[in-house]
Amino acid sequence: SPAPVRVCVTGAAGQIAYTLLFSIASGHVFGPNQPVALQLLDIPQGAEAMNGVAMELQDCALPLLAEVIQTTNPLVAFKDVDYAILLGAMPRREGMQRKDLLRANVGIFKEQGEALDRVAKKSVKVVVVGNPANTNALICAHYAPSIPSRQFTALTRLDENRAKAQLASRAGVAVENVKNVCIWGNHSNTQFPDVAHGYIVASDREVPVADYVGDKAYLEGEFIKTVAMRGAAIIAARKLSSAMSAAKAVADHVRDWHQGTPDGEFVSMAVISDGNMYGVPPGLVYSFPVVIDKKGKYRIVPGLDVSPFARAKLDATTAELQEEKREALDHIAHQVAAVPAV
Ligand code: NAI
Repeated sequence: SPAPVRVCVTGAAGQIAYTLLFSIASGHVFGPNQPVALQLLDIPQGAEAMNGVAMELQDCALPLLAEVIQTTNPLVAFKDVDYAILLGAMPRREGMQRKDLLRANVGIFKEQGEALDRVAKKSVKVVVVGNPANTNALICAHYAPSIPSRQFTALTRLDENRAKAQLASRAGVAVENVKNVCIWGNHSNTQFPDVAHGYIVASDREVPVADYVGDKAYLEGEFIKTVAMRGAAIIAARKLSSAMSAAKAVADHVRDWHQGTPDGEFVSMAVISDGNMYGVPPGLVYSFPVVIDKKGKYRIVPGLDVSPFARAKLDATTAELQEEKREALDHIAHQVAAVPAV
């Protein structure tokens, strides 16, 4: 059998990891013939719980799981990895503003970028899930200059899955028949779930979503709001943030990046905006529709029509990402300045 693919998962003692690790180790992500070596990272406070997760992985008796390493040291966790799935972050607490969360997390992603730069394979593919995911991915890439920034992505596949599930339910079709609905911009309230290029497969015909659903007011209003606010709705109901659905989305993201997207279909990934043809300024990690070839190389889908309605949405989420980037870099600059000279 082939050599194991080395996968680091951070936040390994947390909620998302609990579902994701099983999914990876059982072959759902890298395929049924591909052994996997897992490198688990958490902070010292999470070490005991992480050990429990490692014990359970062992007890799953999975034939594809070649090795499990657990550590609290990023330099050990990222050593020689092919994939780094960054779930670990400080969670948003009650009453915490987005800004406070951003400040708490930039430090983590700076440190992890530096560690990846030192010890990961130069071909490593990175997926950031910890929030604010897009900006964390940007910071991580910034501090890993020897790894191409194209290889740093953030998760917006959960938003895409939510959008497709809402449309399937509205249209009364199976969710796998909803195609090419995509997310633009930030994984936040300003994201733009876009149905303009989407279609629904019904009795072997491809019907544009707008024609099938036939309710423009819904598609431009309630639909977008429901998708953007879904994370908050889950927290209100569960008193915990999305975890099962987040793990499923991470598995979808990594599987497609590893194995390629189906012919004619695209998926959403937040990727470096450099060189995009949709008027998004360079230097942001921005969600676009992408296609991925069988060798795992992605490219932003070219030539999609952007309506004036869409343009305004794309620009609004751009402005938020620019503001987050400014905040994050500012915060780092102040931290550095605050360190007394030796
Ligand atoms: P959780 O709080 O259950 O687990 C997080 C784990 O990360 C904890 O075990 C914690 O000890 C660990 N951790 C904290 N700092 C760390 C560090 N510096 N290095 C390594 N590990 C560290 O959180 P959960 O539910 O698993 O979610 C993880 C993250 O994913 C959160 O930031 C959450 O906001 C985000 N999220 C993002 C989604 C997306 O669509 N982009 C969807 C759902 C959650």
